Amino acid sequence: MDLRLTAKAPATGAERAAVDAVLGPPQSGWEGGTRTALDAHAAFGGRAARARRHLLITVLHAVQERIGWISPGAIDHIAERLTVPPAEAYGVASFYALFRTTPSPGAVVHVCDDLACQVNGAEELCERMTHRFGKEGSESAFDGTGVTWQRSPCLGQCDRGSAALIQRAGADPARVGLAPADPDQIWRSLTAPDEGAGRPHVSSSSSGTVSLLRRVGQVDPSSLGSYRAAGGYEMLRRAVGLGPQGVLREVKDAKLLGRGGAAFPTAIKWEAVAANPVQPHYVICNADESEPGTFKDRVLMESDPYALIEALTVMGYACEAEQGYIYIRGEYPLAEARLRHAVAQARALGFLGPDVMGKGFAFDIEVRRGAGAYIAGEETALINSLEGKRAEPRNKPPFPAQSGLFGKPTAVNNVETLLSVLEILGVGGPSFASVGTENSTGTRLFCLSGCVERPGLYEYDFGVTLGEVIDAAGGVRGGRPLQAVLLGGAAGSFVGPSALDMPLTFEAVRAAGTTLGSGVVLVLDDTVDVVALLRRITQFFRDESCGQCVPCRVGTVRQEELLARLASGTPRGSVATELALLDDIGSVARDASICGLGQTAISAVQSAVKLGLIGS
Ligand SMILES: Cc1cc2nc3c(=O)[nH]c(=O)nc-3n(C[C@H](O)[C@H](O)[C@H](O)COP(=O)(O)O)c2cc1C
Ligand code: SF4
Ligand code: FES
Repeated sequence: MDLRLTAKAPATGAERAAVDAVLGPPQSGWEGGTRTALDAHAAFGGRAARARRHLLITVLHAVQERIGWISPGAIDHIAERLTVPPAEAYGVASFYALFRTTPSPGAVVHVCDDLACQVNGAEELCERMTHRFGKEGSESAFDGTGVTWQRSPCLGQCDRGSAALIQRAGADPARVGLAPADPDQIWRSLTAPDEGAGRPHVSSSSSGTVSLLRRVGQVDPSSLGSYRAAGGYEMLRRAVGLGPQGVLREVKDAKLLGRGGAAFPTAIKWEAVAANPVQPHYVICNADESEPGTFKDRVLMESDPYALIEALTVMGYACEAEQGYIYIRGEYPLAEARLRHAVAQARALGFLGPDVMGKGFAFDIEVRRGAGAYIAGEETALINSLEGKRAEPRNKPPFPAQSGLFGKPTAVNNVETLLSVLEILGVGGPSFASVGTENSTGTRLFCLSGCVERPGLYEYDFGVTLGEVIDAAGGVRGGRPLQAVLLGGAAGSFVGPSALDMPLTFEAVRAAGTTLGSGVVLVLDDTVDVVALLRRITQFFRDESCGQCVPCRVGTVRQEELLARLASGTPRGSVATELALLDDIGSVARDASICGLGQTAISAVQSAVKLGLIGS
């Protein structure tokens, strides 16, 4: 392909080395290597290079990690290596928040100012960061390459916020998540990064037969032996005994609904992929977990990584796929490191590979890192991201089970959903279905954060009430009055104290006009400035809209402006006119957006209006 390369300076040696570390050395001048006489006569390698297009984001990560930003010269070189137009490579690099396409200091500190951290002093932390490191976006001296800091959406450490993530580029790059974070500790971690892990508070109060958290804190997450000693890989053995059809039957009998937010029946998805004659099939674990207030998948992956690998292998077996992917958000360095280690160990010991456990089927897993985009959690956006593209959702249909990754039948499931499958195999589908309620079977993980005594991850059988979950977390901090609870995250909705008796099941929350979403229970006492939280939510959706659909791209901006007017007591016309406009924006976005982001972006504000938290 003739590429129009426009960079004023070519890629540096270090940039080339970073790219080559992923792709291997270039095979010809056509691929960005040294031009030889042969290159003048024949073009070769283009097809092979294009076949690796899906590695674009991996390569961009490599340059970002080595240099701290992705220069036009690096973009040109990557474009040559993968035979993609530089404009397209730039379009991908500039889509994701963790990539920088302008000269940047080598170290960047992302400070969460999202919902749960707001409640836990994010603004004070930002003030202290300004005092210690200069104002947001400015550069201060560090290690010859400089350091800067910036505000960030939720980093998935809401149980321990205020949270921060350090990205440090160089020959020995580092990414560290810190929570709770303070500027001195951030400085220490810049110079001597460690794993930064604190022990999460977890509690499983399920009926006992089903427990997703059973191994958390009990097994060594770096040891396959420890996992096996706790019964690990017995479920895969059982799955093979049942055969793919038998596994599908168990999952169907269990009436398992997806835990990623959409509550779609898992068995329907798996059956559709398994029955699709088009080959190959792919299975994907969605570990992008970016819904503000959500951290359940992080805890599972950090504490029990082999379980996810075993569960994804079961999924591959049932869906007759030989390749699986775990797409994990870039803000989870510890979970990613543990998963990569676990995958390598499982492969080395024959639990992944051409003949899994000697049972005559092939399956392998690749861990792919996201690069900072909430929308990448939407399953078709995630698939685009895995293909090395901008994480823009696709129109559905076709659904991924018909045409997913690389146009092939693909099933995507959330981490918690997959761990539930191991529990199903443990007790059998009908027994699993007997836990919880008729239509919400099994257990659910709830991410408790905000104004509670013991923030953390709580597991309950479906049907527990909201009040019981909050009580389990020690109740409202300091015994203060409850103002409201945000259920389901930024895409969820607020409920008031009168909802404390509401059973947490898919059907009951739907009837109450709200959602469980990704299991967020953000508790707000009477001191919390809910209007400030609403403004953060509207800013979040404005930032995270991928921009493909007008109702979402423009509607999220209009919503933010409208809320600012309401918050400052300067409505255009009257408050009633503003609220009517909000309803209009909401219904257009719900009716005419491609994906769930646009369809839910107005829900939280509308629920707050209904509760009289704003606009009354
Ligand atoms: C904007 C948006 C973000 C999403 N983010 C996630 C996510 O981070 N993790 C997740 O599992 N599902 C997420 N989803 C839902 C996925 O599209 C999909 O329904 C899910 O991965 C399917 O898995 P499940 O059936 O196991 O829930 C998101 C959806 C939307 C619209
Ligand atoms: S609804 Fe919003 S996020 Fe979803 S595809 Fe459209 S513009 Fe992108
Ligand atoms: S880590 Fe700050 S809100 Fe989640």
